[in-house]
Amino acid sequence: MRRPIVVGNWKMNMLISSSRKWVEELLNISDCAGTIDIVVAPPFTSISVVRQYLKGSKVLLAGQNLASIAEGAQTGEISANMLKDAGCDYVILGHSERRQYQQESDGLINKKIFLACQSGLNVILCIGESMGERNSGKTNDVIERQLTACLEGLSEDQLNSLSIAYEPIWAIGTGNTANPNQVQDVHGFIRSWCEKSIGKSLSRVTRILYGGSVNSQSSPALMAQPDVDGLLVGGASLRSKSFYDIIKSSF
Ligand code: PGA
Repeated sequence: MRRPIVVGNWKMNMLISSSRKWVEELLNISDCAGTIDIVVAPPFTSISVVRQYLKGSKVLLAGQNLASIAEGAQTGEISANMLKDAGCDYVILGHSERRQYQQESDGLINKKIFLACQSGLNVILCIGESMGERNSGKTNDVIERQLTACLEGLSEDQLNSLSIAYEPIWAIGTGNTANPNQVQDVHGFIRSWCEKSIGKSLSRVTRILYGGSVNSQSSPALMAQPDVDGLLVGGASLRSKSFYDIIKSSF
């Protein structure tokens, strides 16, 4: 019912030449055609070359961010329409690194989600708690606050294109993958929040991804959880082989 999805988030890594090599290597190992969605989020400068080399494959493209207004005088920004025009089907929004280093608030992320939906992009909304918040028993409060504010005012149609990525901040880039029970607990909470807040039928189709130090050892047990529908992979997506190993071992 929910088609599994694996997203590779390259963050601020990979030049044009290494991006091209990555795609060539991945398509050499496999044509990636199957029953899951495979998505790669290169830096803006590599989107065009990745698109060109992925041509004919089923792998989809994502942007890592977009501007909070539709167009105009915003030096250095990239709009939702530009991402769509460049060949992206998805955009990652609300990543904790953007919340931390670019001071992105839930309100700003909400604006970006509207713009993404207007442009026909599927949104992958990232949410997650810090270690301090987890240790003081506030995980569910944080998740609920982020979901409520980021998704405020969205119509059923707009929510249809939404996936949610649970990414505990303490697990990102640290090698500390959250254990499958911890992940299922939070994903179950997200699913029931969705049921209560956006309706039963939408909650059944909304995909919930886990992200945070995923590798091919940890991915099968994570994907085996009933409410884990996909993975958002950072570091381990930078090499085509380790990215593919995750796909192969989990599905
Ligand atoms: P990581 O990053 O896999 O390197 O922990 C995941 C993410 O930030 O999306």
